[in-house]
Order: sequence, then structure tokens, then C-alpha cells
Amino acid sequence: NYRIGMASNYLRHGESIANFSSGAGKISRINAVTLGESPASEENDLVLPSDEFCRQALIPNPQKYLEMYKRSVEDPAGFWSDIASEFYWKQKWGQPVFSENFDVRNGPIDIQWFKGGVTNICYNCVDRNVESGNADKIAIYWEGNEPGFQDSLTYSQLLQRVCQLANYLKDVGVKKGDAVIIYLPMLMELPIAMLACARIGAVHSVVFAGFSADSLAQRIMDCKPKVVITCNAVKRGSKTIQLKDIVDTALAESSKNSISIDLCLTYENQCAMKRGDTKWQDGRDVWWQDVVPKYPTSCMVEWVDAEDPLFLLYTSGSTGKPKGVLHTTGGYMVYTATTFKYAFDYKPSDVYWCTADCGWITGHSYVTYGPMLNGATVVVYEGAPNYPHPGRCWDIVDKFNVTIFYTAPTLVRSLMRDGDQYVTRYSRKSLRVLGSVGEPINPSAWRWFFNVVGDSRCPISDTWWQTETGGFMITPLPGAWPQKPGSATFPFFGVQPVIVDDKGIEIDGACSGYLCVKNSWPGAFRTLYGDHERYETTYFKPFPGYYFSGDGCTRDKDGYYWLTGRVDDVINVSGHRIGTAEVESALVSHPQCAEAAVVGFEHEVKGQGIYAFVTLVEGVPYSEELRKSLILTVREQIGAFAAPDKIHWAPGLPKTRSGKIMRRILRKIAARQLDELGDTSTLAEPNVVDQLIALADC
Ligand code: PRX
Repeated sequence: NYRIGMASNYLRHGESIANFSSGAGKISRINAVTLGESPASEENDLVLPSDEFCRQALIPNPQKYLEMYKRSVEDPAGFWSDIASEFYWKQKWGQPVFSENFDVRNGPIDIQWFKGGVTNICYNCVDRNVESGNADKIAIYWEGNEPGFQDSLTYSQLLQRVCQLANYLKDVGVKKGDAVIIYLPMLMELPIAMLACARIGAVHSVVFAGFSADSLAQRIMDCKPKVVITCNAVKRGSKTIQLKDIVDTALAESSKNSISIDLCLTYENQCAMKRGDTKWQDGRDVWWQDVVPKYPTSCMVEWVDAEDPLFLLYTSGSTGKPKGVLHTTGGYMVYTATTFKYAFDYKPSDVYWCTADCGWITGHSYVTYGPMLNGATVVVYEGAPNYPHPGRCWDIVDKFNVTIFYTAPTLVRSLMRDGDQYVTRYSRKSLRVLGSVGEPINPSAWRWFFNVVGDSRCPISDTWWQTETGGFMITPLPGAWPQKPGSATFPFFGVQPVIVDDKGIEIDGACSGYLCVKNSWPGAFRTLYGDHERYETTYFKPFPGYYFSGDGCTRDKDGYYWLTGRVDDVINVSGHRIGTAEVESALVSHPQCAEAAVVGFEHEVKGQGIYAFVTLVEGVPYSEELRKSLILTVREQIGAFAAPDKIHWAPGLPKTRSGKIMRRILRKIAARQLDELGDTSTLAEPNVVDQLIALADC
């Protein structure tokens, strides 16, 4: 079993890792900046892996990690080439293995891995497994929203389904490089659609099925897909959501803007709604079940260059317009497969369940590509994790004998609140590794996850990464070293994180600052679709020479990394990334809203909640009805997950004399830290602050 010890008992390994990853010889300005909280006492808490776990682990000790890490940064070409060689390449990559310009001062940012290599990620995910003796292994166990609804596909059945859809898409004219929007819930058809696109070289763009019609339309207009793939409806918990209606509205909106989509392939999700009840536009709408099963179950692969685009995934930034993060094929393939394998200590006998939706990057890299590249058995769950009761997750774990369970801290906190009894009534003895992603996991949630869910037996991989990074960047490798509750621990192979101060100077040793990365890694995104300039401005210009993550970070005396949250205008709500500007622009589109400013505030379950200060049009009175209508506007324009938790009526907003909103003050008011407002004398109208405080609980 694990033992909880003190760092002082663990000098040898901790120190050697710390020395290695903190980069000796850098300009040392310890604690030059302090962002967020310091890990304080947690940094002394160590959770040691059991000998039993270490004995079977892929990386069983710090020495093995250090040896591999050292090679990965000293000889990245050799390190990654060896791994890439385990996959199928129609033609091997050329030389150099990778090239990068990572410094804006030296010209445009340019990252390439395995250029000239010809491959196909769908082939490597599916055909390769079928051909290597895993044809009858379960690829997907599917569990429906309603208990009792389930299905499964072996790797050979998956191949057939993927090929049928790929053939259909080709037949309707989808070609290499064309975009396809996928707006589906967690049906098996979602990973099937992703893989079918990849098979024919089409670029998929999955839009999370919780996004509103407006958001979907915005994405359709940006990437101009040949086809939109959706389903008629889905049940989430006890609610039925008519997705096809949302798509209809989005398509009407985009055609008003001269982007018309000729084909909407619609899966009939019979568990949610019969086809007769679905609104239909003849000529444009086609039922999946009427066409796709008629196509041949084999389909030639479209071989693509390693640097050909694989997918676009829109994510929030600090302006109102979502960014189309573009990932390419070869490097992403090698990186997601490798990170999955090591961070979860993956073995072929594992049954893996990631609760993320394929509409987010986690579902791309760690529901579909990473696991399938390893030939894993993946659980795909359609429903809400607490439906029809808070024990549903553990019911599913026991049912499929899940060994690796990967989720978000928000779910951990909400299940923790429901009580241990919902967990302990299930066996969970199959579990051996747990994972966390999306936001910092607070130490108390970590401990509950570890002690109650994992019976103090399963290491937790708290994986830090982003849509942009493609795969894990800082993550525990279970068995390799002790964990600290709440720390993402050490960098993955090939990743050289640095912490910089506000002048962009690297800080050495124990410190806090902005988290950057100083070299490329195979899974890095290559650009923002159609806007390379924004790519450079957002990520490479703030600290020239580095990739800037947008996150604050602390490194402790043992070299462990502690993520402290976003330092830009992005908030992280239940692990979903939301730009404050997006919510603000939705609010101000309301006819009675004159101005809005949105900040994050600490939320017990969601991690961060959305706090909106709203100034109404002159003469409009505050009312409960108006509050609801403002929230509804955000739901309609972005999606329910972005609905503000709190609307604070604001007769005016605190602004500098040049008109800039002082969010620092708003954050303090939202947190009710009223004695920490700081200097308000530079405000154009200092009395607005008093007015805001007076209205705090209205
Ligand atoms: O702030 C970090 C947080 O989520 C952001 C990335 O969001 P997104 O691109 O939507 O991807 C989420 C899934 C990878 C990061 O900038 N974040 C993600 N994982 C962690 C985290 N913060 C702390 N600890 C993590 N493990």
C-alpha cells in the first residue's frame, strides 16, 4: 500500500529529479513573482507508490525516468524516432526528424515533426490492431444514459464501421483536406466519425454537443465544412436535447452568411427520439442508418504527410472569437500514444475509461487517438456521471472492470459532496490507476479520490496540458516517484517547462511565475486556423523564445510543479475553458445590457464559477426576470455550461481614466475580499466601487 510520508524522508530521489528539471545555471531570481497560492504544507506531503505497483510499472523508479528524460531532451530526434518507428509509416520521414523556429525574433514560428513521413492515424488506431492479433479485442464498450443500454465493438467491427462511413463520405465528395464538422454526443458514432475522417484525410472539427446554435454556426462559418454530422437527439440524465434542431438553426444562420451546407448526415439515436419526430429538410438531411450501412466494410486508406492537418478544435481565448487550434498527423500520433502509455502505465489487459466528451481535446487525445493507438479497450459513456444516482460511475467501473479511470476534479468534488456511501457500495477492485485533468485538483479532493475511490491503492495521474499541447506536458508517471496531492509533478519526456517572471526571465529553483515551454514537442499545435499571426501573438510574443501557456505555476523545493490557474482572461469552469470576453459579448448583445465585465470566482464544485457585473441601459430597472433573461442569452449564444453563476448589478464599472476596466478590483469584489481592494485612487470614478459593494447581495 501507499504510505504518506514527509519530503524530508525522501531526499535522494526528490533532489535528483529537482536538480535535473530545474535547469542548473539559469538566472536565479527566486520568488521574483508570486502568482496564486503557494502550495504551503502540501509540498511536504508525499504519497509513495507501493512496491507492488512499482514492480510492474513501465517506469518503476526515478532513475529510469531520468535516464529517458535526459535522452528525450538531449537527443529528441533519436528519442522520438525510436518511438515513431513502432507505428506504421507508408514511407519513413526525412531528415531532419524535426525542425522548429520557436522564437518570434527569428521569423515566423514554424514547427514540423517527421516531415516527409507518410502515414495514417486511423490505420494505426484500427487496422494495425486488427492485423496484429487484436481483431477480436473489444475496442469500445458503450454505456447508454439509461442503465441497461449498452453495446460494444471489437477492433475488427470498429474497422468495418469506420470503413463504411469513410466510403460514404468519399462518395458524397469529401476529399483530403476538406473539413467535416461533427456535432454528436458520446455515441460510438462519434469516435467512428473522427476515425473515418482521418482515414480519408479529411479534417474533422468536433463541436461539443453542449454548444449552442450560435456557437456551432460560428464554427461552421469559420471552417466551411463539406458535411455536418449529427444525430437527432440525445438524453442527458432525464433531459432530452434535440440536437438536430440546434443544427438546423446553426445551418440557417450560416446560410444567411453565404455559407450553405449541402449535407447534414443525421444519426437516428433511437434511445432518445424516433425519426418521425425529427424536423427534416429533404435534399439536405440524410439518415445515417439509411445510407452508411450499405457501403463496403473495407476502404482504402488515404496516406497523408506527417504534417498534413488531422483536426481543428475550437477553444476559447481572451477575445470573443474562438480559436481554431490545428493539429497535424504524425507528431500528434506519436505524442498522444506515448503520453497515454506512460502516464497511465498502460498494459494490454487494461480497461480504460475517460469521462471526457470527444467535443474537448481530452476526448480527442485520450478517448480516441491515444488509447486506440495502444490497442486499448475504451469505455464510452453517453450520459451524465450522476444519473440516475451518484453511484453510476462506480457501477460502470464494476460492470466493465475498469482499471484506469480518468476524470476531472469537478466531478471528483461533486461526488465527494454526495457522500462516500455511493462509492463504497461498489467493489472498484479492478481500478489500478486514476487520472485527473482540466483544472488544478485541490489537495482535499485529491485525497478523497485517492483514499475513497482508489482505496489508497491507485496512483493519481494529475495531467497538466491544453488543447494546444495535444497531449500531457507535466504529469505523474505512476510508480516512478512519490506524488504530492495537488501537484502535477514533473515534465513528460521531451518537455522542458520553464517558469518566467513578468519580464520573461527564466527563474530557477523553487519559485512562482508564468509557465512556459522552451522547445517544441511532437504533439504541439502548428497554428490557429487561418490566423498564424494570432498564434504568434498569443503564444509566442508574450515571452519571446518560449511558448506561453497562459497558466501560473509554482515549482517547489523538490522540483514538483504546481499549477495555479490561468493568468489571462480565460476562466476554467468545471474543467471547461471559457473566455471572459465571449460571455461579455453574449451579455451585451442583450438589448437591456449596456456593459458587462466577467471574472472568475472560486466555486466549491466547479473550481471556478462565472461572475458577471452587468450595467443596464439607462432607465431599465433590475429584476429577477431580467437576470434570468441575461443568463438565457448566454446559454443561447454559447451553451448552458457558460451560464453565469452570479449576476451583479453594476451602476458603473471601475475604470481607469483611460477607460480600461480594472478587473483586479472586480475579482476582489467577486471573492468578497473587500479589504483587499488595493489602490482605487487611479480610478476615473472611485465611488463606483462603493456602489458595487452596496449592491453585492442584491
Ligand atoms: O489552466 C489549465 C487547465 O486547463 C487549461 C487548458 O484547457 P483546455 O485547453 O480546455 O484543455 C483541458 C484539458 C487538457 C490549462 O491552461 N488545466 C488542464 N489540466 C490541468 C489544468 N490545470 C491544472 N492542473 C491540470 N492537471
